[in-house]
Amino acid sequence: MLFSRIPLLLAFLHCVSSEQPSAPSPISAPLRELPWASGGLNFLHTTDTHGWHGGHLQEAQYSADWGDYISFAHHLRKRADDDGSDLLLVDTGDRVEGNGLYDASDPKGRYTFDIFKQQRMDVITPGNHELYLANTSSREYEEVVPDFKDAYIASNLDIYSLKSEKFEPFAPRYRRFTTKNQGIRVLAFGFMFDFHGNANNTFVQPVQETVKEQWFQDALRTKDVDLFLIAGHVPVRDSQEYDLIYRAIRDVVWDTPIVFFGGHTHIRDFRKYEKKAFGLESGRYMETLGFLSMSGLSGGKKDVVAAASPTYKRMYVDNNLYSMREHTGTNTSTFPTGLGRNVSHAIHAARKAMKLDHTFGCAPQDYWLNRAQYPANDSLLTLLDTQVLPDTFERLNNASIVITNSGAMRFDIFKGPFTIDTTFLVSPFTSGFRRLRGVPYGAASQVLQLLNNEGPITLEELAALGQGVASFCAKDCTLANAGIRSRAAICQDGCKGAGVRMQDLMPPLPPVALRTLRGEGSGQQVPLFAAEKPTIPGYTTIDDAGEDGDDTVHQAIQFYDVPNCIGVDVGFSSMSGEKSEMVDLVYNEFIQDWVLLALRYLGKTYAKGETEGALGGKTMTEMISEWVGGHWGCEEDV
Ligand SMILES: *[C@@H]1O[C@H](CO)[C@@H](O)[C@H](O)[C@H]1NC(C)=O
Ligand SMILES: *[C@@H]1O[C@H](CO)[C@@H](O)[C@H](O)[C@H]1NC(C)=O
Ligand SMILES: *[C@@H]1O[C@H](CO)[C@@H](O)[C@H](O)[C@H]1NC(C)=O
Ligand SMILES: *[C@@H]1O[C@H](CO)[C@@H](O)[C@H](O)[C@H]1NC(C)=O
Ligand SMILES: *[C@@H]1O[C@H](CO)[C@@H](O)[C@H](O)[C@H]1NC(C)=O
Ligand SMILES: *[C@@H]1O[C@H](CO)[C@@H](O)[C@H](O)[C@H]1NC(C)=O
Repeated sequence: MLFSRIPLLLAFLHCVSSEQPSAPSPISAPLRELPWASGGLNFLHTTDTHGWHGGHLQEAQYSADWGDYISFAHHLRKRADDDGSDLLLVDTGDRVEGNGLYDASDPKGRYTFDIFKQQRMDVITPGNHELYLANTSSREYEEVVPDFKDAYIASNLDIYSLKSEKFEPFAPRYRRFTTKNQGIRVLAFGFMFDFHGNANNTFVQPVQETVKEQWFQDALRTKDVDLFLIAGHVPVRDSQEYDLIYRAIRDVVWDTPIVFFGGHTHIRDFRKYEKKAFGLESGRYMETLGFLSMSGLSGGKKDVVAAASPTYKRMYVDNNLYSMREHTGTNTSTFPTGLGRNVSHAIHAARKAMKLDHTFGCAPQDYWLNRAQYPANDSLLTLLDTQVLPDTFERLNNASIVITNSGAMRFDIFKGPFTIDTTFLVSPFTSGFRRLRGVPYGAASQVLQLLNNEGPITLEELAALGQGVASFCAKDCTLANAGIRSRAAICQDGCKGAGVRMQDLMPPLPPVALRTLRGEGSGQQVPLFAAEKPTIPGYTTIDDAGEDGDDTVHQAIQFYDVPNCIGVDVGFSSMSGEKSEMVDLVYNEFIQDWVLLALRYLGKTYAKGETEGALGGKTMTEMISEWVGGHWGCEEDV
């Protein structure tokens, strides 16, 4: 039991308004009104939370925690009961990996499941991150599936059962239920995209096969269904999986309304399939609580005559207390519920037990991964290549060229304390550095150029040269496999055994930003109140319903492209002005295949065996936190 482990702590906490004690207070901003459907069906949707259940402690805009979400859902459920509508909660996977609250414990996730399960769900599905490691998926199967009983749905996922010694459905294939107040008869499915990077104890059936299965075809022919609800770890746009499912449903039932909930690409998005089928995707990292309402659905209990087609409305709620209170008509004292508060306390206690707030130093300013141009004083990559890398490697004596991929960094550094927690956010990856000794300077100095597609050959062409690197992977996975971040490198297929790692699958740049960029700047954003110009930077989403989906009227954030890799020369100054003929090439282990390929293209062939570990096996994360410890002090009150 979670709460019994930490009874004493609670007595010392007196946060009136919940959320984590160290979280910044949300700033008020112009808000759009929640498009609640009185007498209709309403949904709250989370996806790709990746362990951020404690909220964002350095970003006021996303600072509410899972306990606050529980309170929020409570008030909206009550509103539904009061006005005769319904509220359903959906989560579409990737709840694990990516935040200290999950990753810092041994075993990982020791605290998160007791926290997560306190929120009642109506439909919940797994994501790819639940399936990478056999121990993660078996725990999901043994603990989380039972936690959510029949709400957990796995339409195309099996797991190897040690008991029966064969593959069994991970969870029920579908769920049929009737909503409490409206009596809407829902048939719900839970899908996983056609993923192959899972451990061998699970089996993901390709969607095109699942839709042909007899049970699926029979389910579609169920009588008296008012709504098909498809939840899944599948993007709502440009995904063949959801297109297949949509068509499979429409082949059998031509006009029953459909609603999709999706994820995986970490964006805010709302897609119109047709006037009776829409899909919502609700971002990432507990930044967004997706809201969707449907009115005009027919329900079994009431003699409501269904509208010709229901009205779908969506909203992306910023995860902070200001938004939550405004949308529920509560204030600081009426908002938190007993359970919500308890869960916030449990999160605080878990963070404390893992010492996540242990501070290495304090950042004097913000450093952005993609929100600043490169190079620039506020660019995280500039910080790395002008300070962290040179300082760290200058001890090496021999002239070296040090290269790292920008994909090794995943999040910005904010002004203020740089803590254990920060390390998991900024660079959670565990690969270290390798070194090749005695590389001719002429070749070594061109590697960075090649990796950045600036040479006479592109990365793709380079890949094609390296048999065995290009061939084991489908075309658009090659970039991801090299750890070279690319917008398109969300690798879904063909990468089995190719060593695809977490960092490839978690694009640090939310693609929504790119959609924002397409809209060009903040000028077009129409403030709700003429007097109040949006001043809080954040999402400015453009989707199939227009530009009014974000609850908070944000100032658009500008995102910049940054190079695949950055590099720095170290130890050259001591060489009396002249470039040494031979240098050491030091690089992040993650890009080793690419570095060796580039060298081969440059006429220097090295075997993996000729490389050696560097920096005593330290990971990038350790390197950064040591540097912070040595260079950034904390002023009195930060
Ligand atoms: C699974 O194994 C990894 C290492 O192999 C370990 O770090 C992690 O804590 C384990 N997770 C669980 C749930 O036991
Ligand atoms: C998975 O792979 C391991 C190691 O190769 C093997 O021992 C095990 O039997 C495999 N499990 C299944 C379910 O195929
Ligand atoms: C919050 O609202 C309640 C009920 O409307 C009211 O009694 C209370 O004074 C309010 N508290 C604050 C802090 O505004
Ligand atoms: C909150 O935790 C306290 C102390 O453990 C417990 O007595 C209380 O019942 C809990 N409240 C809810 C609503 O879970
Ligand atoms: C960046 O910092 C350097 C050194 O402190 C300074 O000379 C330069 O003006 C700064 N550039 C910007 C754009 O702030
Ligand atoms: C410098 O390079 C030489 C030859 O490659 C090697 O013997 C020596 O150990 C290196 N020194 C350091 C400090 O790495």
